[in-house]
Amino acid sequence: MGARSEDVEGKVLVDMRISRRAVLMSAGAAAAWLASPARALFQAVGKVETPAFVGQLVERMTLEEKAGQLSLMASAWGGGAALSLNPPGQGSDFPKQVDEARQGMLTGVFNGNGARMARILQDAAVKQSRMKIPLIFAADIIHGHRTIFPVPLAEVASFEPELARRTAEAAAFEAAGAGIDWTFAPMVDVARDQRWGRGVEGGGEDVLLGRLFAAARVQGFQGADLKTTDRMLSCIKHFAAYGAAESGLDYNVADMSERRLREVYLQPYKAGFDAGALSAMASFNEINGIPSTGNRWLMTDLLRKEWGFEGFVVSDYTGDEEMILAGYARDGRDAARLAFLAGVDMSMQSGLYRQHLPDLVRKGDVPQAMLDQSVRRVLALKAMLGLFDDPFRRIDEKRETAHSMLPATRALAREAGRKSIVLLKNDGDLLPLPRSGRKIALIGPFASGQHDLVGPWVVYGDDAKAVDLATGIRAALANKDSLIVAEGSGVEQPIPGGLEKALAAAKSADIIVLAIGESQIMSGEAQSRTEIVVPEPQQALAEIVATAGKPVVVVLKHGRALALEGAVANAPAILATWFLGTETGNAIADILFGAHGPSGRLPASFPWKSGQEPYYYAHKPTGRPNPPSPLDAYKAHFRGVPNSARFPFGHGLTYGKIAYSGLALSAPGMPMNGTIEVAATIANRGTRAAEEVVQLYIHDKVASITRPVRELKAFRKIALAPGQSEVVRFTLSAADLAFYGVKDRPVIEPGSFDVWIAPSAEADGLHGTFELSA
Ligand code: NOJ
Repeated sequence: MGARSEDVEGKVLVDMRISRRAVLMSAGAAAAWLASPARALFQAVGKVETPAFVGQLVERMTLEEKAGQLSLMASAWGGGAALSLNPPGQGSDFPKQVDEARQGMLTGVFNGNGARMARILQDAAVKQSRMKIPLIFAADIIHGHRTIFPVPLAEVASFEPELARRTAEAAAFEAAGAGIDWTFAPMVDVARDQRWGRGVEGGGEDVLLGRLFAAARVQGFQGADLKTTDRMLSCIKHFAAYGAAESGLDYNVADMSERRLREVYLQPYKAGFDAGALSAMASFNEINGIPSTGNRWLMTDLLRKEWGFEGFVVSDYTGDEEMILAGYARDGRDAARLAFLAGVDMSMQSGLYRQHLPDLVRKGDVPQAMLDQSVRRVLALKAMLGLFDDPFRRIDEKRETAHSMLPATRALAREAGRKSIVLLKNDGDLLPLPRSGRKIALIGPFASGQHDLVGPWVVYGDDAKAVDLATGIRAALANKDSLIVAEGSGVEQPIPGGLEKALAAAKSADIIVLAIGESQIMSGEAQSRTEIVVPEPQQALAEIVATAGKPVVVVLKHGRALALEGAVANAPAILATWFLGTETGNAIADILFGAHGPSGRLPASFPWKSGQEPYYYAHKPTGRPNPPSPLDAYKAHFRGVPNSARFPFGHGLTYGKIAYSGLALSAPGMPMNGTIEVAATIANRGTRAAEEVVQLYIHDKVASITRPVRELKAFRKIALAPGQSEVVRFTLSAADLAFYGVKDRPVIEPGSFDVWIAPSAEADGLHGTFELSA
């Protein structure tokens, strides 16, 4: 087997693949990407510069002060949303925290409360502590600071990494003024089990999208120079394979081959580091029996030695201490020792490092040289952030207000919102709706009200400043009175009389817009679900509303792919709208009434049934593959359910009529060092403008390791006016055909390949084959 594989140097291959794919992105996005100054950073891989004074400082520090520089704590400033994002136990004794800063026991705090708080703590650190080392201020700026952008998974539906770069940049612009130097983002965990609640924070199920969005977000947060006061240090999390939690249960174990780990789960982290991210967060889970936080192979052999990562690693919250309950560490001292020796430089929240590291070094259980090295890493990053030049550079009460929720930032949120929406179904061209002449009944728990707008993982955003659906729709209607609103049901509980009122509203209208789905606390951390369906009371609402016999547009709110059923699945029009943030109502109205056409594509497959999870398009064929229909006996499928998705990865409709034709390959094959061009004509035969995401998939027919049924290798988003057509060309090289071989290293094998240019991962599209020769 090994003999017919050509070994490829892993690092070179990875770099080649990223840059090649960047070129294959949508024309607009690729142009912006190439023009961006961050492009240089992307190619450079994050380099740490350690000024000479850092070494001198470390020489003068006590062991306690060194351990303090490796101890990050939650802000103790009382109240605020920040406290609800993690298990309790942070404490709210702010004067005590100020005192800790004075004594050099803290490297910084996270999820604090703005510039005023930061100034008090920074004053104590730089004016009153012995070493005068500035604090670093961190926060979970996941999809916006005050202006909230779509949840990260939604933004991936845009298939436009440049959009994510821009929203990350805008988030940094708001957050940095509020004293935040460091964001715990991007989260880049590949998520293939939709029961897991944290898929909402990441890049979806696909490797290529995961890589591109990881890199784009890092560039957006960091820019080209970390000293810039409008940018922040980014943190790649959760390293590693947090999204592979068994059965989709948050915090659960991940157990998998090294090949799958490298080929799928590790890819977006690597892309993020290659884009310049200089911090990483350890994941809560274990991988193959060893908790990430105590995993020396992961944190040191792979991350530092193999990948050349030069930044620092922080634990996720009390992840070090949690190794005790996981059965890997004996006690707090043991946990601190294991985490530190594995390569986790900084401990978040448990306090174990400052409690035990000095003694561990004194007793010879941890080498002092290692401690010094971790402190140097942290101080070097503080220097790169400009904190030694001016510890108050991002702490600016005036800028905090002046940068907050500017019209341009809100406009970007609206653009990102509409680009994140996916039109799943549009029978009879029900959408777009007319702006006048029709009475609309807007029904459902998400129809109106200042709730569930910003979405999960928001520390500083405010639902009250967001536009709800009813307001967005009213603003788009010629006659505001043509909208009636009925709640119909709670999210997970019925409301008395709700169904009757909803049915009356439905009967009195010409068109029904049904706003149903998940509330924002149903996804995010610790929010795994056993069934990924619309909650029962809302399903009942959908069923009763359908009896009115009026056309129904389902507007879904959700933090994950859902299995749609009954009247929801049967509605003629369905929009997947996720959590879109501050401009929710306006962005949805833009699409509903056709001011803009829908252009989003699913970043995660919507299966037929919950029980198919984990379901992802790039699955293996098995020896008994099941075609979508008929449901042959003795083939791989669940009873009565095809082994496919109701709405697959990559699916999304437009308001145009898109036709694919004329697949053309530049040659019947290509040599190892050559390329092949795959082209197709994409036409809009409709009467409305459309943006189509043209996708190229491959399948390696026979290989030394079985290959997925399809893999996305390139895509382009093109704009087509009515009647317009365009020839879309992709160039594949051998590197695009590589996979992790029997030795868990990238290989390229000659042989026969299927290639598709298609509108989704499961659409027939246009199919061809070519040979890769040795
Ligand atoms: C735990 C979460 O897993 C992580 O993503 C987050 O950054 C920290 N808490 C800090 O809030």
